[in-house]
Amino acid sequence: MSFSLCLGLGACDSSGDGDGEASGSNGSSGDDGESGDEGEAHDVPTGAICPPGEETTITYTNFAADFFKFKCVTCHSADLSGDERFDAPESHDYDTRADVMEHGQDIDKWAGAYMSQVNDFMPPDDAEDIDFPTRREREDLAQWIACGYPE
Ligand code: HEC
Repeated sequence: MSFSLCLGLGACDSSGDGDGEASGSNGSSGDDGESGDEGEAHDVPTGAICPPGEETTITYTNFAADFFKFKCVTCHSADLSGDERFDAPESHDYDTRADVMEHGQDIDKWAGAYMSQVNDFMPPDDAEDIDFPTRREREDLAQWIACGYPE
């Protein structure tokens, strides 16, 4: 009789808050060596959470709009085509909040940061004329996404 049904309401997010989760995380089963870099994985979510019990102060207006404008849309913009995109995929444009919302989880995996998970695959290392995001900005980005893209 597990009680894990979560039909409807979209209530099935995977962030367990507390109960049940602790067992198994102690003890050192280790990860059997193999800690090499097997190519960089772009598929690890930061796991960022919206701070519980408080309103986030990070919004599109006061943070994300400029973040994308200055650090991403020089390649990821619907106004650009061909070489102007520096190979940024056509499907990924971040000109507006709505555009960004379509790709929030990918953006988290490529550019977000939370605690020890720092995804700094974007912008590409060789991007020119870009003011690279700071660690703090990557954390704010991930939190803004986790909070549901406040306007
Ligand atoms: C210099 C150009 C450039 C800039 C600036 C840039 N990107 Fe990219 N972006 C790329 C390229 C090229 C790829 C494809 C890389 C690949 O597939 O390995 C890409 C891929 C991505 C992807 C993966 C898309 C997919 O197919 O899943 C995401 C997400 C992304 N970028 C987000 C961002 C964010 C967020 C920023 C700003 C912080 C940013 N990028 C800035 C060029 C850029």
